[in-house]
Amino acid sequence: MSGDSFDASKQRSDAIKADLTVHPENYIMLTGDRPTGRLHLGHYFGTIVQRVKMQNIGITTRIVIADYQVITDRDSTDNIQDNVRNMVIDYLACGIDPEKTIVFAHSAVPALNQLMLPFLSLVTESELHRNPTVKAEQEASGHALTGLLLTYPVHQACDILFCKGNVVPVGKDQLPHIEQTRNIARRFNERFGKVFPEPEGLLTEAVLIPGLDGRKMSKSYGNAIALSATAEETAKLIKKSRTDSDRTITFDPENRPGVSALLTTAALCTGRAEADIAAEIGDGGSGTLKKYVTESVNAYLAPIRERRAELEARGSYVDEVLHEGNRRANEIADQTLQEVREAMHMVY
Ligand code: TRP
Repeated sequence: MSGDSFDASKQRSDAIKADLTVHPENYIMLTGDRPTGRLHLGHYFGTIVQRVKMQNIGITTRIVIADYQVITDRDSTDNIQDNVRNMVIDYLACGIDPEKTIVFAHSAVPALNQLMLPFLSLVTESELHRNPTVKAEQEASGHALTGLLLTYPVHQACDILFCKGNVVPVGKDQLPHIEQTRNIARRFNERFGKVFPEPEGLLTEAVLIPGLDGRKMSKSYGNAIALSATAEETAKLIKKSRTDSDRTITFDPENRPGVSALLTTAALCTGRAEADIAAEIGDGGSGTLKKYVTESVNAYLAPIRERRAELEARGSYVDEVLHEGNRRANEIADQTLQEVREAMHMVY
């Protein structure tokens, strides 16, 4: 995406952020996750906290568990049901309120998926091939480019537009998807009559929490602290994280990625500044640092883990939340598809 259009997106994003608390009733937020594993601290500080905040100031909020997106770059749906169920548990444990926020699975909402056909007619092959995220994901996966991966930004447009979402919290790398969604909405409205809003990306400003080795936190790197991990598993993971032999602890992400990632993790969990924590530990070495990080993370996650355990003990409750979310999402999707049929004069 060019610098100009990034600046324009950023400006619009800032303007909306300022307006969210003033006019929450004007916004419908849609966002989602792929159920490829457990949510971790990176997801939590990166997006979940903001979703809960938006929900609680009265913005209409919807979360898609993008199960179909899992097979964009892999052959199997192993563990997918378990991942979806645990994702719902994680959301609820973090403060997502199913009375306020509709949580649903992609594959459970046929009318949402049917939007894919008219939407695909509104994009060109070269637009699809130009998307930088699609390219990057294909390269990372080591798989051939599947039709689903190539067209998943269009599928994401279906997720956003089925509920007429007009704000989508995104990282910078997802802005091309929003641009694609805006194009689809605008072209549909021009060709067939106004049905859809042109959604805006809300650029997330949260510090990107590094994984324990200083790389991006990701399950596949083995550097992520899952919300669902036990206190002991957390301690173990932190203990084996790579630091360096300099006993004096300093915050220096470039030269000391391991030590600095640990400091950032503790800073997020305690609300303190990295440099203050580093100064306090002084020349206590990485053993002292790791002990402090472990205690901070476990103290922070304790109430979330407690709610997780309660939810797991409540039998079918989690399934009921998802069923109800699916039901409500279907209601909205059916209504939108009906409007699409009418706009396209395809009512039979
Ligand atoms: N692609 C997103 C991810 O990989 C998940 C997602 C699916 C999504 N549909 C969406 C995000 C719509 C925002 C809006 O995490």
